[in-house]
Amino acid sequence: MSKTESFKKYTPLEEKGKGEMVVICSAKGGVGKTVVSTNLAVALSKKKYKVALLDGDFQFGDLNVALNVIPNFTIKEAAEGLQFLDESTINTYLTSHLSGIKLLAAPEAPEYADLITPVALKKIYSVLLEEYDFVIVDTGVGLEEKTLQIIEDAHHIWIMSNLDITSIKNTRLMLDTLEKLQLGGKSKLIINNTSEVVIVGEKEAEDSIGKSIFSSLPYDDKTVTQSINYGTPFVLDSNYKKSIITKRVMNLATYISGKSNVDLKENIQSSKLSFFTDKIKKMTARSDINESITENRK
Ligand SMILES: Nc1ncnc2c1ncn2[C@@H]1O[C@H](COP(=O)(O)OP(=O)(O)OP(=O)(O)O)[C@@H](O)[C@H]1O
Ligand SMILES: [Mg+2]
Repeated sequence: MSKTESFKKYTPLEEKGKGEMVVICSAKGGVGKTVVSTNLAVALSKKKYKVALLDGDFQFGDLNVALNVIPNFTIKEAAEGLQFLDESTINTYLTSHLSGIKLLAAPEAPEYADLITPVALKKIYSVLLEEYDFVIVDTGVGLEEKTLQIIEDAHHIWIMSNLDITSIKNTRLMLDTLEKLQLGGKSKLIINNTSEVVIVGEKEAEDSIGKSIFSSLPYDDKTVTQSINYGTPFVLDSNYKKSIITKRVMNLATYISGKSNVDLKENIQSSKLSFFTDKIKKMTARSDINESITENRK
């Protein structure tokens, strides 16, 4: 078995439910996964879809904070009750948000993360996919084993990055790994905080990362920070209806619900700094990094 094949430890979902799973991940922390996953979930709910949001950061997930809800139960209890888990019992563990979405929150403390075994996780999202039109998964940083399992089973993989050099370097490595696993086809690159950045333009970013930008979201401190402080996703707040970031996320929801002709990105100013691309290429030329990940999954 080749090293790349050893990644394929999990069998794909055997019986696909009616729903589609969208996983939002990144190679670097703080790039906007939680902002996008919460607002995307609510945007889909506004379009009358039945949406579940799964906090896939089992150690430090904070979707309950982002949505300003207090869960009675979390994925830990769902995993503990695995034997009896089905389309009706799963509701016990979900927390309702005023938008209509249901949250399956992360465990209360990081030490419970290991109780969410890969088998339990698979059963949990399989059951959710039977009941919900969309299951949106916000993940922890990187390609941790359970994140990889979700990625393999997801219908859509959204890789988020900012345009700083470390974020770009790590995003490239992550995408290279997904390509090796033949998961590149269902992965899309989303750049966040664009207008904040003046050094890297769209072309340099695409050349450096080796993938075209599918969508970009502008830096918008007022909309994003206030929505986080109030615990209200900005797509729900009429004050921010006209913000570009609100329209973009609504368009991402339109795209994911099957319509392709929507505005998903802006022109990111070019900086003419071609040395940047060469620098990233040198930094990501270490194929042994990916090999070591595959080794670990043997
Ligand atoms: N487009 C944006 N404009 C302004 N601020 C933003 C934007 N996107 C994210 N932020 C800010 O960046 C911070 C990190 O965002 P977020 O929590 O969504 O990142 P994350 O990828 O989920 O982080 P982690 O890896 O820690 O889970 C938040 O405080 C948020 O306010
Ligand atoms: Mg987060």
